[in-house]
Amino acid sequence: MPSGVPAPDPPVVVRDATPADGAACAAVYAPYVHDTAVSFEDLPPTPDEMAGRIAAALASHAWLVAVLPPGTPDAGRVVGYAYAVPFAARPAYRWACETSVYLEPGRRRTGAGRALYSALLERLASLGYRQAVAGYAEPNPASAALHAALGFEPVGTFRDIGFKHGAWRDVTRVQRALGAGGTTPPE
Ligand SMILES: CC(C)(COP(=O)(O)OP(=O)(O)OC[C@H]1O[C@@H](n2cnc3c(N)ncnc32)[C@H](O)[C@@H]1OP(=O)(O)O)[C@@H](O)C(=O)NCCC(=O)NCCS
Repeated sequence: MPSGVPAPDPPVVVRDATPADGAACAAVYAPYVHDTAVSFEDLPPTPDEMAGRIAAALASHAWLVAVLPPGTPDAGRVVGYAYAVPFAARPAYRWACETSVYLEPGRRRTGAGRALYSALLERLASLGYRQAVAGYAEPNPASAALHAALGFEPVGTFRDIGFKHGAWRDVTRVQRALGAGGTTPPE
């Protein structure tokens, strides 16, 4: 590698999270809470709070982490995560889930987001979920591109729906079918 040219980010391995990944996931997420409107939270969750979120998602849906692979510096370090939670509480919504994915800031376009999200969508389909819904504050070209690449379609944009860091924020909602989607009754 010529000097001055940064080494490419290594690929990642995707595995199921455990609540012990709470601190690492909280560290990935915190900068998005503090510094951006990507997250609509004001205060980053503590490691314990994140562990609780992981446990809750694992109990009903899934929470996956991307880690640096064996043989690389920092092998096993969590560099991103993806998870799903219920889309809404009322019973008729129970086959629909809300998905989300976060990589540590600055991680380049190496397919880590796609690896995490593909694995998550496959898992959700195998669990019998039929629709995945996600939302991102505009503008977020990376999130828009990742969701489009994985078959999500825009269903609309809420205008000025959030206020963060001194500005009103639009949120685009996207959706894609999982498994048989709406073509057969749920199991
Ligand atoms: C969104 C995010 C997970 C994407 O992860 P990533 O590892 O960079 O994405 P990938 O390398 O897997 O790329 C997936 C697709 O999106 C495209 N893409 C990724 N970043 C892009 C960008 N900034 N601009 C345009 N396209 C982009 C890639 O070209 C790729 O398309 P292709 O497979 O058709 O070539 C990552 O940027 C991130 O963590 N962002 C901050 C958190 C966030 O916004 N999360 C979404 C909230 S729901």
